[in-house]
This record gives sequence, C-alpha cells and structure tokens, in this order.
Amino acid sequence: MNATAIVTGGCGGIGAATASRLAADGFTVYSTDLAGAIEAATEAVLATAHHRLVHDVADEDSWADVVGHVLSIEGRVDVLVNNAGVGNMATAVDEMVAGWHRVIGITQMGVWLGMRAVGPIMVEQRAGSIVNVASIFGSSGGKGDMFAYHAAKGAVLSMTKSAAVLWGPDQVRVNTVQPGFVQTPSLERNADAARVEWMTTNAPLGRVATAAEVANAIAFLAGRESGFITGADLVVDGGWLAR
Ligand SMILES: NC(=O)c1ccc[n+]([C@@H]2O[C@H](COP(=O)([O-])OP(=O)(O)OC[C@H]3O[C@@H](n4cnc5c(N)ncnc54)[C@H](O)[C@@H]3O)[C@@H](O)[C@H]2O)c1
Repeated sequence: MNATAIVTGGCGGIGAATASRLAADGFTVYSTDLAGAIEAATEAVLATAHHRLVHDVADEDSWADVVGHVLSIEGRVDVLVNNAGVGNMATAVDEMVAGWHRVIGITQMGVWLGMRAVGPIMVEQRAGSIVNVASIFGSSGGKGDMFAYHAAKGAVLSMTKSAAVLWGPDQVRVNTVQPGFVQTPSLERNADAARVEWMTTNAPLGRVATAAEVANAIAFLAGRESGFITGADLVVDGGWLAR
C-alpha cells in the first residue's frame, strides 16, 4: 500500500504543485480545499491528486471529517502538508478585527488544528512527517502592510518547533518551509508591478520562485531523505532573508 499524504489548499499554486510532486513520489494524495475552489479548479489542477476533499482548515469539525475519511480508507496518514493560508493587505493600524480573525483563523489556527487532528495518529503509528508552509514574512517585516499575515506566519514557525519537540520521541517530524515570493494565483491577485519589482530586486537570485521549486522543498521534508530533520525551517527565497 502506498504511503498517504494530505495537502491542504490543494487547488492553489503551491498546493497543486505539492500534490502533484507527492503523487509522483508514490504517495496516495488527498488534496483538500474550500468547495468553491474545487468547483472553480481547472482540469489540470484537479488532476494533481488522487482524491479531492472539501475542507475548511479553520473549522475543527471539517478536520475531523477529512481525517476520518482518509483513515477509513487508508488506515494511516504518513504526511500532512499544512499549506492553506490567506493574507490581508492591511497595516497594524488599518487591520480590522474581522480581518485579523479571518487571517489568524485560516493561516495560524488552521495549521494548529491540522497538527492536532493528525499528530496523535502519527504518534500511534510511530511515524509521520508534517510540513507547515510558513513564509519569509513569518521572520521579516516585509513592507509593513500585511500585519495579520506576519503574525500568523511567525506563529507557524514557533508552533512547528513546539510540536517537533513534543512528538520527536514518537518519531513524528514537524518542519516548515519558508517560501519567498512564488508565482501563484495569490501573488497574481495581490501584487502589482511595483510590488513584484520590489520582490525581485531584493532577492539575490533576481526573480520569484516557481510553485514547483517550493513543492520540491516540501517533498524533501515530507519524505525519508530528511529523516533526521525536525523543528527546522527550510528557507526557499532566492536569498531574500540573507540580506
Ligand atoms: N505565493 C507566495 O508568494 C507565497 C509566499 C510565501 C508563502 N506562501 C504561502 O504558501 C501557501 C500557499 O499559497 P499560494 O501562493 O499557493 O496561494 P493560493 O491562493 O494560490 O492557494 C491557497 C489555497 O488555499 C485555499 N484556502 C483558502 N482558505 C482555505 C480554508 N479555509 N480551508 C482550506 N483551503 C483554503 C484556497 O482556496 C487556495 O486554493 C499559503 O500558506 C501562503 O501563505 C505563499
């Protein structure tokens, strides 16, 4: 039987690339996303995973449904990629309480709920790998205009370390990938030409990443080749944070 992976936000840029890469690596992939995103997805995106499940990562009952479904069919969960995340263009002054709760609920709490739903299963298996998708905005201030997103991604980095310490003795690994700027639908929606210029000129490699380049790093942390790595942050940013 193939190892089983769950990828959240699987209809998005990085999620679809990750689902595709893990399927190519031999995992049976369950890709999850909001109902609307699955309905709107292209054939190419739908083809990236073996199974698609409707899921809201900010809803604990939805996590119980998704994980219960996967367990009932596969009997195990080997990899969880907590990829779903959203941001809001608002500074510390402009952010509203509703916007804060939305970003924190999906981008931070969603990662916690995922770890809480899957971690104990992996502990029982005495094997498993969780990869949380953070961001360079979790450890830098960016342009100061995505306040709640910075808060959420910073928390993803520290929650990952806490869970890695908790579950290490049970052979469950927990790591983050910290992407820089990645060519995805969210970047196309949120970044105008001036912002893209700012992103590329400040990255020593002088460009944004492809989603496949981030998926490669996620697949490395998900798989056996990273067997002695836990609690780590793998930065995939073209050198952005090195400045
Ligand atoms: N694109 C970038 O430049 C970049 C940089 C750093 C980090 N990231 C992070 O990478 C991850 C993926 O981003 P992307 O650029 O592929 O974005 P994207 O918008 O292309 O994809 C995100 C996916 O998450 C889904 N999603 C949103 N809310 C959800 C919810 N409540 N439950 C389940 N799914 C939900 C969306 O429907 C979408 O399919 C995010 O965590 C993002 O913060 C992206």
